[in-house]
Amino acid sequence: MTNRALLSTRAVPNVEDLTISQLVLGIETSCDETAVACVSSEGDIRGQAIYSQLSAHAPYGGIVPEIAARAHLERLQPLIDETLRQAQVAPERLDAVAATAGPGLIGGVIVGATMAKALAYAWEKPFIAINHLEAHALSARLSDRVPFPFLLLLVSGGHCQLLAVADVGDYRLYGQTIDDALGEAFDKTARLLGLGYPGGPAVEALAAKGNADRYALPRPLLGKPGCDFSFAGLKTAVRQVVQALPPGTADDQAASDLCASFQRVCGDVLADRCRSAAQRFRAEFGRCDRIVVAGGVAANRYLRARLNALADAEGASLVVPPPALCTDNAAMVAWAGLERLRLGQRDSLEFAPRPRWPLESLTAFPEPSGG
Ligand code: KG4
Ligand code: ZN
Repeated sequence: MTNRALLSTRAVPNVEDLTISQLVLGIETSCDETAVACVSSEGDIRGQAIYSQLSAHAPYGGIVPEIAARAHLERLQPLIDETLRQAQVAPERLDAVAATAGPGLIGGVIVGATMAKALAYAWEKPFIAINHLEAHALSARLSDRVPFPFLLLLVSGGHCQLLAVADVGDYRLYGQTIDDALGEAFDKTARLLGLGYPGGPAVEALAAKGNADRYALPRPLLGKPGCDFSFAGLKTAVRQVVQALPPGTADDQAASDLCASFQRVCGDVLADRCRSAAQRFRAEFGRCDRIVVAGGVAANRYLRARLNALADAEGASLVVPPPALCTDNAAMVAWAGLERLRLGQRDSLEFAPRPRWPLESLTAFPEPSGG
């Protein structure tokens, strides 16, 4: 019998099978985006669907957890159908179902994780519980194929951290905010000026028309050792300036100048803290080639320019995933699922969603129960 005949009589995968990649369905419901995506192990986003709940929360000036959970429940199933339709993937073809299982608003996390478990059970696929922060941390590997290790600045509405990402599951916390997250500081500044929610884009737009020299605002922890952040004092200073403004000044030059002054101070602080982190990273890993920025605040062009200059000065390149991968999305969840699937991870359907789940508590090889 020839080799060829041998091959054809055994259960050897044919060439087509060998080239077929792994596919993971990802679900994200930890905050105010209901999102689903189907991603391949080559990093192709085969299908995705997202429902932003912004308009549901806007009248309240912030996210209302109860409204968020209800909206996730109503929207999730149609988004899953739409994603699979776009991807032209039958459930049998999937290799796993991954969902954010924390940290986040627990009502929403339960909705997404429970849906993922139900689908995994019905379709007889592995379920993978994803840490939302890990999904942000690995997003630059989906968009830019960034190799390990890299320095990560994670700046969103709920988080402000600097970490060394040494490997999947090996996250070393260098510093974090001791009070507010940076996105929160943007949102609070916007709220004080009556600019609506979310504040970041509105503050950035006004800042572009403003004079950053007009208001002297504090730059907390600037020049201090370590990599921690603090934005509470800055927030108080902004409030004091706003209170001294005549009412209804949101469109005035004063508001633009305040936004510009605020944004510049944020840039100063981010650059200073990242410089400190890059030094520590170099001491630990011998070099610092890449600084990755993830999270919603990374959408800010001014801050990106400041971080770019800092990275240049440190001899590193700055990697910022495209805005749709920086803000909350399901493609990053599916990708984190693929990275974990590659390591052999499967989680139990008993896995309990977690409102708090620090990134640095993760490991590369969790217990099979995932508990
Ligand atoms: O990552 P994200 O979508 O949600 C989580 O918080 O997980 O981040 C949302 C945050 C909000 O605080 C929003 O104001 C901020 O990111 N943000 C911005 C900009 N776009 C969004 N902050 C500054 N400048 C922006 N252009
Ligand atoms: Zn997020």
